Amino acid sequence: MNVLLIGSGGREHALAWKLAQSSFLTGLFVAPGNAGTDSIATNLKLDVSNHDAVSRAIKRHDIGMVVVGPEAPLVNGLVDELLDDTKHPGLVVVGPRKAGAQLEGSKAFAKEFMRRHNIPTAAYGAFDATQQEEAQEFLRNMQAPYVIKADGLAGGKGVIITEDLDEAQQVLEGMLSGASFGDAGTQVVLEQYLDGIECSMFAVTDGDAYHLLPSAKDYKRVGEGDTGPNTGGMGAVSPVPFMDAEFHEKAINQIIIPTIKGLAADGIPYQGFLFFGLMKVGGDPFVIEYNCRLGDPETEVIIPRIQSDLLHLFESMGAGLLSEYHLQIDSRTCSTVMLVSQGYPGKVEKGKAMTLPESMPKDTMLFHGGTTVSRGQVLTDGGRVVACSALSTTPEDAIKRSYDLASKVVFEGMSFRKDIGQDLL
Ligand code: AMP
Ligand code: GLY
Repeated sequence: MNVLLIGSGGREHALAWKLAQSSFLTGLFVAPGNAGTDSIATNLKLDVSNHDAVSRAIKRHDIGMVVVGPEAPLVNGLVDELLDDTKHPGLVVVGPRKAGAQLEGSKAFAKEFMRRHNIPTAAYGAFDATQQEEAQEFLRNMQAPYVIKADGLAGGKGVIITEDLDEAQQVLEGMLSGASFGDAGTQVVLEQYLDGIECSMFAVTDGDAYHLLPSAKDYKRVGEGDTGPNTGGMGAVSPVPFMDAEFHEKAINQIIIPTIKGLAADGIPYQGFLFFGLMKVGGDPFVIEYNCRLGDPETEVIIPRIQSDLLHLFESMGAGLLSEYHLQIDSRTCSTVMLVSQGYPGKVEKGKAMTLPESMPKDTMLFHGGTTVSRGQVLTDGGRVVACSALSTTPEDAIKRSYDLASKVVFEGMSFRKDIGQDLL
């Protein structure tokens, strides 16, 4: 089967790397891809927000399956277009339609969904631009720290947490007026602060059955010791030692099953990934956020632990046969360290020449994010440049091997967090 994978990050390189190993694969196309996917697949220069262009590429390359990596095309309804049977009969798409993607695309929708289905999450209020007064009143009655969330997609920057009521009031006003986040902020969620440790769970579902993928912990802040601004993620480890069997059990029964049943009960078809951003408070799981896709860099530690054929898994999902599928997971630890450009998560310079390792030690993987190739030379092309992943029997060794791999990559202005996984040891 020919597969089209949409996206250009480390997540997509990891998915492409795994799909390329499938015995069911004939051709692999990535749109738009990066230097890493270019070395194992055919990159297509496609504007994926142009749904007709994606449709044309599907026809031209005789694509049987589309895997959508990032959230924006899902929230924008790409899948609804592709699943229009008259256009592409029989096409399998990994990724939900717009209605299901609302779990990520609208925080107010997600909170209302959780309330409706009794899924544990922080108490909240949701307000739109016509409710400035009510929202400010609700805020004044909250306890610090104040958690203020722009409703729509904001590239991980739409959540403000502050101890200062004056600042919270200004943030709220800025969001609702449209000044700070445009349309994404004209609806807000004000939320109770949850004091705990964050971790993530992932499932692949056909809307009825599901399989759990490995759990992971992401390191979101740019600086060591979880300091500085939020990023897309500076590193990740899977599995997570503090996510014990009891916690998993609670999360499955209180969150994962009710979410999949809730979608079905609400008449929302869902085929693809569910990403549960969780807070462990005491021993209990609460949902911080839903995502309708895999995480980046979580994918760079999850995918290396999947032993099964990924394309076969996706085909089972498409055929509604997930319940009969046996997913095999490697029990070893995988860790990844993200190498970023100077200035990230702010403005970065691109186009820096990169030196990459000449040979890859066993069970290590270099997943490209923001990279491109020009006349045979790999160049940086974004903030998060490459993820250095390694598998090993102990977390200590997996982490050490990720850093060993990172030490073999060179580009001007390169930086990375030195403490990925240290809190787990
Ligand atoms: P989100 O985009 O919803 O994942 O939020 C971004 C980050 O803000 C999360 O990764 C958490 O670190 C933090 N956060 C979000 N909601 C809460 C909450 N209710 N309590 C504490 N921290 C939160
Ligand atoms: N690493 C967090 C995310 O992908 O949302």
